[in-house]
Amino acid sequence: MFKIPRGTRDFSIEDMQKRRYIEEGMRSTFQTFGYREIQTPTFETLELFTAKSGQEIIEELYSFKDKGGRDLALRPELTAPVIRFYVDKLQMEPKPLKLFYFGNCFRYDRPQKGRYREFRQAGCEIIGTDTPEAYAELIVLAYKILENSGIEDLRLNIGNLNILSLIFKQLKLTREQQKYLIPLIDKSLFEDVFDVLRDFGIKGEDANKFIEILQTPDVKIIKKYFKDDSAIKEIGELEQILKLIEKAFGIKNYKVQMSIVRGLDYYKGLVFEIEAPILGAEKQLCGGGAYDLISLFGGKKTPSAGFAIGFDRTIVALESENYRFPKSQIDAYVIPLNEDIVDLAINIVQILRNEGFLVDLDLLRRGLGKSLKYASSIDVKKAIILGPKETKQNSVTVRDMETGEQKFIKIKNIIKIFQ
Ligand code: HAM
Repeated sequence: MFKIPRGTRDFSIEDMQKRRYIEEGMRSTFQTFGYREIQTPTFETLELFTAKSGQEIIEELYSFKDKGGRDLALRPELTAPVIRFYVDKLQMEPKPLKLFYFGNCFRYDRPQKGRYREFRQAGCEIIGTDTPEAYAELIVLAYKILENSGIEDLRLNIGNLNILSLIFKQLKLTREQQKYLIPLIDKSLFEDVFDVLRDFGIKGEDANKFIEILQTPDVKIIKKYFKDDSAIKEIGELEQILKLIEKAFGIKNYKVQMSIVRGLDYYKGLVFEIEAPILGAEKQLCGGGAYDLISLFGGKKTPSAGFAIGFDRTIVALESENYRFPKSQIDAYVIPLNEDIVDLAINIVQILRNEGFLVDLDLLRRGLGKSLKYASSIDVKKAIILGPKETKQNSVTVRDMETGEQKFIKIKNIIKIFQ
């Protein structure tokens, strides 16, 4: 027997009904915010992903050589591919360019609940603007997509990597020292941060202040820490974004969190994450922010920002919150009771399908009892039964599968059974 590869999943009929329903909802929210859909290939040149992140990232990738000896990789995310596409073909498009996408991604991660080797992302990129309203709208879009999907308990955290860098600068930490600290900050291991700072020769009071800033949601406290103008300007911009999110867009459920560092290497400035606490360890549903890849990929320098939502985690969160996914029902199941009625049955099927109804037909000639049993197993609303008695009167028997109620209906009025 063949086994499914580690970290991948099969999706059943019910799974796919849930997934398509949620994906359609997300697509429509992207569209209501003026975003338009694009698609990029599933694999790219390996270099696209090592350009910013270096060779270490190869450990986390599905990379391979093709028959022509080219180094390729299954995409681990879609921001680099979208920016490659932009630099190659979309630079002349009017700005801002608002692009969204759905796509499967591949990471050589350690599989666990909510962490897979093949997973799906829903994401977007906005290119050509860095106004506070652009950033506020982007964050609100991420939040709305998840809220509209039906998740009840969401936590939105907003940070800024430039401000974090300025703190590092104020503390005179070397690049190496920063690299050491960042994973600890990312995991909110603040006691360890304190110990490491002490080892780096940072006095207790300064270390405490730094940790306070990483933990406080109060922008005023963060502001007081800084003396130089660039920090004040950066915090002022963050405040404008927060004000728009809260006052103009009406979203109050957010927290400032300077300890957000984001895993990927391309971010600068604004960063944000959305979590669903019900998911436990893998609770991060969405991550995003402003980044700089366009000039690295040879394009004309332009601001860009975006986010990606973990589609699979969204479904797991909805299931964990006992979200009631709508049942997808077949409208009608047509049952011809003998062979010479098959033509007429197909005729009725055609009429209904052309009207857009979801219609199935008995293809096994298995008689009324078994056909009705099958119809109820595939969740049919109405069974349409055609026997000699019905055809003689140009009629059908329509059985409501929920109530069991039966009606004799003229074939010419067949569409009316759904009114
Ligand atoms: P990311 O934080 O690496 O960001 O991934 C975004 C989301 O994808 C995560 O928050 C998580 O929900 C989901 N995710 C990541 N890895 C896995 C996995 N192994 N299994 C299941 N879900 C996973 C990015 O990918 C950036 N490209 C986002 C972005 C777009 N930034 C700017 N534009």
